[in-house]
Amino acid sequence: MASTPVSSIILSLTSLLFLLLTPHIQAQSPSAPSPSPSGPINITDILVKGGQYNILIRLLTSTQVANQINNQVNNSNDGMTVFAPTDNAFSNLPSGTLNNLSAQQQVQLVLYHVLPKYYSLPDLLTVSNPVRTQASGQDGGVFGLDFSGAGSQVNVSTGIVETIVNTALRSNFPLAVYSLDKVLLPKEFYEAKAPAPAPTTNVTSSSSNSTKSAASPPSPASGSGRLQMRVGLVASIVLFCMGLF
Ligand SMILES: *[C@@H]1O[C@H](CO)[C@@H](O)[C@H](O)[C@H]1NC(C)=O
Ligand SMILES: *[C@@H]1O[C@H](CO)[C@@H](O)[C@H](O)[C@H]1NC(C)=O
Ligand SMILES: *[C@@H]1O[C@H](CO)[C@@H](O)[C@H](O)[C@H]1NC(C)=O
Ligand SMILES: *[C@@H]1O[C@H](CO)[C@@H](O)[C@H](O)[C@H]1NC(C)=O
Ligand SMILES: *[C@@H]1O[C@H](CO)[C@@H](O)[C@H](O)[C@H]1NC(C)=O
Ligand SMILES: *[C@@H]1O[C@H](CO)[C@@H](O)[C@H](O)[C@H]1NC(C)=O
Repeated sequence: MASTPVSSIILSLTSLLFLLLTPHIQAQSPSAPSPSPSGPINITDILVKGGQYNILIRLLTSTQVANQINNQVNNSNDGMTVFAPTDNAFSNLPSGTLNNLSAQQQVQLVLYHVLPKYYSLPDLLTVSNPVRTQASGQDGGVFGLDFSGAGSQVNVSTGIVETIVNTALRSNFPLAVYSLDKVLLPKEFYEAKAPAPAPTTNVTSSSSNSTKSAASPPSPASGSGRLQMRVGLVASIVLFCMGLF
């Protein structure tokens, strides 16, 4: 069993390399007629037709999230919304970003791009933030997305990445698929892990009523927490700098 994730990671890496080394493949011959428009919705099929979502397709497939989306779209009354970063968006990540993610984080990353509800573009302008994603609740994390807009333009933000919600590859209920120029990196990946369930001491901070005391004590015992915070900070700075380009 232990070899499965390793081999799948190697497989992903290999295919990623292949993708990066292969000059732009013409995805489809223009003459190919599209198959019957009816039939079950197939997220992979939609992305293949989009022509520039190969890395996302690999991730959706390797994590099995593609099947999950297809099933849920078919079976839920709420529909779904998928944000689809382009291959360029993935290539523009700092090198190593994907490889640094654990298998579980890769799944979380993909689920973070999926909302368990259908939203038209105008819907996204009126949602109350943060909007739950399919990753919400994992590891106790919020994994929410914030939407904002000016005029008819909608932006999506993770707290560390903000980008414009581009044209829809598919816009009809029950599935909306929007193209993104950036990968939505959840800030939960870069935050210090919550210091677990607080030790059973009842904090009777009678001395000073600092409401934030629970969140910010740089107690000597939390050295690793501080290291994680520093790593998170560095990552944020790197990401912020990338954003400047
Ligand atoms: C979805 O589409 C992809 C690409 O066109 C295809 O390989 C796959 O078999 C389809 N899946 C289903 C369940 O039809
Ligand atoms: C879609 O859902 C219906 C009923 O919920 C089910 O009968 C059908 O087999 C499903 N189709 C697919 C492709 O999952
Ligand atoms: C990946 O992890 C290595 C080792 O922990 C670290 O040095 C590097 O900065 C990380 N890269 C990214 C993009 O997070
Ligand atoms: C939307 O995001 C883009 C890219 O980050 C930014 O340039 C723009 O100012 C944002 N627009 C709004 C209305 O926040
Ligand atoms: C902590 O407080 C709860 C209720 O406020 C109490 O039931 C519990 O016994 C306390 N535990 C300790 C270790 O004081
Ligand atoms: C501290 O608590 C007192 C009363 O309990 C309250 O009046 C005061 O506003 C609090 N100060 C802060 C900074 O929360």
